[in-house]
Amino acid sequence: MESMIRDIKLAPSGHDKINWVKNFMPVMAAVDKEFSVSKPFAGKKMVITLHLEAKTAYMAEIFQHAGAEVAITGSNPLSTQDDVAAALVEDGLHVFAWHGCTPEEYDTFINKALDIHPDFVIDDGGDLVHMLHTKRRELLSGIVGGSEETTTGVHRLRALANEGKLEFPMIAANDAYCKYLFDNRYGTGQSTWDGIMRTTNVVIAGKNVVIAGYGWCGKGGAMRARGLGANVIITEVDPIKAIEAVFDGFRVMPMDEAAKIGDIFLTLTGDKDIIRKQHFEVMKNGAILANSGHFDVEINIPELESLSVSRRTVRKNIEEFKLHDGRKLYLLAEGRLVNLAAGDGHPAEIMDLSFGVQFFSALHLLKHGKEMEKGVHLMPEEINTKIAKIKLKSMGVAIDTLTPEQRAYLSMA
Ligand SMILES: NC(=O)c1ccc[n+]([C@@H]2O[C@H](COP(=O)([O-])OP(=O)(O)OC[C@H]3O[C@@H](n4cnc5c(N)ncnc54)[C@H](O)[C@@H]3O)[C@@H](O)[C@H]2O)c1
Repeated sequence: MESMIRDIKLAPSGHDKINWVKNFMPVMAAVDKEFSVSKPFAGKKMVITLHLEAKTAYMAEIFQHAGAEVAITGSNPLSTQDDVAAALVEDGLHVFAWHGCTPEEYDTFINKALDIHPDFVIDDGGDLVHMLHTKRRELLSGIVGGSEETTTGVHRLRALANEGKLEFPMIAANDAYCKYLFDNRYGTGQSTWDGIMRTTNVVIAGKNVVIAGYGWCGKGGAMRARGLGANVIITEVDPIKAIEAVFDGFRVMPMDEAAKIGDIFLTLTGDKDIIRKQHFEVMKNGAILANSGHFDVEINIPELESLSVSRRTVRKNIEEFKLHDGRKLYLLAEGRLVNLAAGDGHPAEIMDLSFGVQFFSALHLLKHGKEMEKGVHLMPEEINTKIAKIKLKSMGVAIDTLTPEQRAYLSMA
């Protein structure tokens, strides 16, 4: 099957990127070592829709080493790295992705990848599963199962399952401890600020940073903004999360108030219209707007555009919106997840855990998928412990073990 990528000549730089991240992914190296010999996925086909950068590429290759035929697409038009895509083609995967694809091309890529008729799928955000349940329903009966990488995708899956329409078992990889505790919090926390800083080259210390959403990603974004010296303000709709933010030492207020004083705005909610017309109208001249939630709907760009007399790119990944009254607001990465569209995504050490979750979820589906009910499943708890143990060992960190007396004491009625 012919791949669709920008330019195969970019492959050497892609190989360099993949080889670099391998140095920091010991869990995946252990997986590769074991399963490239036993090849449990021999004869199986897998479609992966994920942010197509180096860590994802390494995982895709490990599935290939484990015997699978793999087709891969990007999960966001701006997060695909064309050199990495080219390297994967050289390594024999079917790749359908390029940076900056149109919405039509994005759909075509998923469609093409599905032409391998997968047994297993890995999705990020729900577009692949959506395509299977709409335009490619003829493939549904062949799917043993799949897993979903992110919070927004899990929301969409649960909505589908609640309507009784999810046609195969899906593991909510996002909801495994070894995923969200580290990826959503520390991964998003660091990589989002990396994306903002490399794009804007501004100092964060002393700025009023407004973070919308104090979930796992919001906590990470807030923690790292504080570490950089920002005055952090949180907006929330959940009273419990709001109290948590207060006791973590942050100011909490409605967006209507925060909009007037923020220098940098960061949305991390998975919800839409977090920053909209009434907020743009009161913002300070020069305010910077960024999103790290899954879709580009958290900052209402059509409303921002309707308030503007001009929109132009002033630096790579920065657009200036000049408002009627002369104020200028700066939008990063078209309001798409700034850490991936304007950066390299999470650090490799973090994705080592997330992709460990993905690999072992797929292995679980390989062994048990046919007996699992249609619907959304959690990854079995013992897999979290297994992944954590490999990671700790690779980090050179030892921990205590319960004595028999302690175990008996803790299980006393
Ligand atoms: N950038 C990345 O690499 C990356 C990584 C992981 C997850 N994500 C995405 O980030 C988003 C958040 O994920 P999460 O795991 O933190 O979810 P979460 O459910 O833990 O947190 C979301 C928070 O946003 C709050 N919220 C919802 N609507 C709001 C509103 N109108 N105003 C203020 N707060 C609001 C919720 O109350 C909740 O506390 C999702 O879209 C997820 O898919 C991105």
